[in-house]
Amino acid sequence: MAILSANNVTKSFLFRKEVITVLKELNLELLPGEFISIVGASGCGKTTLLELFAGLTLPDKGEIYYMDKKITGKTGFLGYMPQNDLLFPWLKVMDNILLPAKVKGLNIKEEKEKARSLLPIFGLESYENHLPWQLSGGLRQRVALARTCMTGSKVWLLDEPLANLDAITRMSLQDWLMSVVKSLELSVILVTHDIDEALYLSHRIELMKDGVFHKSIYVTGEENEAEKTKLKERIRQLL
Ligand SMILES: Nc1ncnc2c1ncn2[C@@H]1O[C@H](COP(=O)(O)OP(=O)(O)OP(=O)(O)O)[C@@H](O)[C@H]1O
Ligand SMILES: [Mg+2]
Repeated sequence: MAILSANNVTKSFLFRKEVITVLKELNLELLPGEFISIVGASGCGKTTLLELFAGLTLPDKGEIYYMDKKITGKTGFLGYMPQNDLLFPWLKVMDNILLPAKVKGLNIKEEKEKARSLLPIFGLESYENHLPWQLSGGLRQRVALARTCMTGSKVWLLDEPLANLDAITRMSLQDWLMSVVKSLELSVILVTHDIDEALYLSHRIELMKDGVFHKSIYVTGEENEAEKTKLKERIRQLL
């Protein structure tokens, strides 16, 4: 039974008086505890799909379901980290993390307690009062992820969360993300351009092209180097 699903979603945009259909009766089911990576060429509609899941936009056709509940066009059910998530430079780490709660008008004292209990998971306990520019790129991404975590949702949608990081930071954050996903028992949809990252983190890689998912690649995590190379080659050919 899926925890999150897109059923036959179609989404078009009007661009210079022309209708461009980005998603064409697309289907995706995320199972509880599953980690899916979406890989596809730039402009193929990955962000458009995550925005539909997050309820920020409406599909022309089709529905989004979260645990059997129709959430099409409704926000607040899922943890969503947008592409190029920016922290507000004038707000301290804690205030950046609390911002969505403030916008929603939640009880800030309670939310702060919750955030404090999350900080160690994100390795941010000694950075509560830092400003974003005082942090490394990896730490900044962790603050953005901590903010995503504050929704309390068991489903995370991450749009290239580790892009723009150097290779070493990126690899250590991949390990860290994997451990957080396990300890919080999350189900995740990750958008990435990095095939190695997708292979390392996912149970399933969905390849997006021409408005649909045209191939699913299942990853056991038990593959040896030769098998991984073969999978990578196959994904490159399919893209
Ligand atoms: N609000 C909008 N108005 C018009 N066209 C849009 C809008 N949002 C997205 N598009 C178009 O829809 C297509 C898909 O965009 P989207 O951002 O989903 O791509 P993407 O797969 O996330 O790409 P990238 O890998 O570069 O982030 C692009 O052609 C884009 O120009
Ligand atoms: Mg995108």
